[in-house]
Amino acid sequence: MRAMLLGPPGAGKGTQAQQLASARGLLHLSTGDLLRAEVAAGSPLGQEAKAVMARGELVSDALVLAIVRQRLETRSEGEGWLLDGFPRNLQQAEALEILLAELGQPIELVVLLELDDALLIQRLLNRGRDDDNEAVIRNRLEVYRQQTAPLIQHYLDQGLLQAVEAEGSVEQIGARITALLE
Ligand code: AP5
Repeated sequence: MRAMLLGPPGAGKGTQAQQLASARGLLHLSTGDLLRAEVAAGSPLGQEAKAVMARGELVSDALVLAIVRQRLETRSEGEGWLLDGFPRNLQQAEALEILLAELGQPIELVVLLELDDALLIQRLLNRGRDDDNEAVIRNRLEVYRQQTAPLIQHYLDQGLLQAVEAEGSVEQIGARITALLE
């Protein structure tokens, strides 16, 4: 299975992707996690990304695409994947399509996780990651609306997108996504 989880910050993309990937033997490719690892390691890439992430803006497409390409090209032969937090804008989506065409492995399903802003904000404030303070969360939501939400129509047009209500327990939402994957 080659799929992607799309949705606003706090919708549960990371939580669901981690569980589904481990249950189904898929590669979980989270650009947020990969970038945070670079920041923690203090690499040149991480130093470039750190301040941008702290503001809740998007890191440059070139930087993110380099990480994704490297990860997809070095995965085990035949291993499926679950993208989480990527692509984040139309440019990234188009670059991904070119890369996947090169690999001969197009995306099969995009799952959109839908949740009200009030619940998103509450979940993120409860978590308390470095970029989970109210001002930055509001900026991340605005960046999502402006730059990422246009992907909904993009994937609808390709007949790939299915929406899932992301309210309820982690298990309930996981069952909704699993039904689509099957
Ligand atoms: P990223 O790490 O992708 O963050 P995000 O999209 O803002 O998403 P979150 O991780 O906040 O939310 P999520 O939907 O994964 O929810 P989660 O499962 O964690 O990106 C961070 C930054 O990196 C960006 O701002 C940007 O700077 C940069 N970046 C990343 N990718 C990029 C890209 N492609 N291009 C450019 N820049 C990029 O859940 C949230 C909380 O809710 C958790 O505490 C969880 O335990 C809880 N929770 C989950 N499910 C439930 C439930 N059902 N009920 C109650 N609580 C729940």
